[in-house]
Amino acid sequence: TEQTFIMIKPDGVQRGLIGEVISRFEKKGFYLRAMKLISVERSFAEKHYADLSSKPFFGGLVEYIVSGPVVAMVWEGKQVVSTGRKLVGATNPLAAEPGTIRGDFAVDIGRNVIHGSDSVENARKEIALWFPEGIAEWKSAQHSWIYEA
Ligand code: GTP
Ligand code: MG
Repeated sequence: TEQTFIMIKPDGVQRGLIGEVISRFEKKGFYLRAMKLISVERSFAEKHYADLSSKPFFGGLVEYIVSGPVVAMVWEGKQVVSTGRKLVGATNPLAAEPGTIRGDFAVDIGRNVIHGSDSVENARKEIALWFPEGIAEWKSAQHSWIYEA
């Protein structure tokens, strides 16, 4: 099954949305495989968002990500990369549908609470960047109540 990298950005941590975000992914039927609360260095944030380094908002984006601790997580489940993006919602929170995390909890694009990997390949790269120590395996006792055999 698939894994994705989800990060609660500094605004989400400051606003007390950690539990809300985790709860939505848990209730959907995805499994938390790794999690840590950390403050990252500028160079690390630049590496995470390297694909956007030519964008005019890149400096502000890096400032935002280093402005406080973030919660880095790995979630696992069927099509969790694309479905995780649906739970997260559109990049611009004012365009994000109600019922999505950004649609329910954010206003500005530069304060959009959460990151989710945009492809299986980028998820793999981001998980390797954020969790070089590796990820624990475990099986939820609920598994057969969520997933058909
Ligand atoms: P992430 O899950 O954080 O990667 O967001 P995304 O995949 O929905 O969008 P993208 O990767 O294109 O951009 C990364 C982040 O940069 C966004 O989540 C925003 O916080 C910020 N960003 C993207 N586009 C803009 C923009 O036009 N203006 C500003 N100020 N910030 C932007
Ligand atoms: Mg992105």
